[in-house]
Amino acid sequence: MTDRKDFICLAHRGASGHEPENTLLAIEKAIALGAPWIEIDVYSVEDELVVIHDERLEATTNGAGIVTQQPLAYLRMLDAGKGQQVPLLREVFEVVRRRAGVNVELKGAGTAAPVVKLIHHYIADHGWHRGQILVSSFNHNELAEVRRIDPHLRLGALGYGFPPEHAKFAEDLGAVSVHTSLACVNQAFVDDAHRRGLKVFVYTVNHPDDLKRVKAMGVDGVFTDYPERVLARKSDHV
Ligand code: G3P
Ligand code: MG
Repeated sequence: MTDRKDFICLAHRGASGHEPENTLLAIEKAIALGAPWIEIDVYSVEDELVVIHDERLEATTNGAGIVTQQPLAYLRMLDAGKGQQVPLLREVFEVVRRRAGVNVELKGAGTAAPVVKLIHHYIADHGWHRGQILVSSFNHNELAEVRRIDPHLRLGALGYGFPPEHAKFAEDLGAVSVHTSLACVNQAFVDDAHRRGLKVFVYTVNHPDDLKRVKAMGVDGVFTDYPERVLARKSDHV
């Protein structure tokens, strides 16, 4: 059973309930709220990693089109909300400055190798350590590629609904955690994941009732748009 004191709060796309998602403003807000982890989504464009959730630009920027089909210069002139640029992953590491862990979710194809390269740079030259970085993806081929390049990086295997073998897919990938949807998580899955030595993080938990429900299942942490709602409840369980 998880030690409740270690319940993990991951700020989903930064503190995206307060500031435009996946922007440096949302990341700064998450840190200000005391979030110990920040989750962001990345795609590979030209020689950079850009931080944005959707495959298309329309929902969160004033641009149009598919992210990976645009020139980087175009992406960088867009407004991602409140005048914020679509950030680069390296800017995220610069802003966080080891004040929180970073969960890099690989959204785009071909992100594994450039993300590992960037992480290695921050480990080698900026004092980050592996325990402060978690690489996750719904694309398990990308995760397998991360593992092939660097078997010591921590992986989080994302899923929505679950196969009959519960969390086996995450164990097979060599992940340290399995990230499951609030819609599908259940006690059998949590127990199975724990038996396999995996932590269970649930996305996206914003309502106090949902937080209570998943905590009762013994999950290890949640992704939330409102870190203060999770952190404020921490003392309930100390
Ligand atoms: O990584 C957890 C969560 O972010 C996965 O779903 O669609 O919000 O990236 P999504
Ligand atoms: Mg995500």
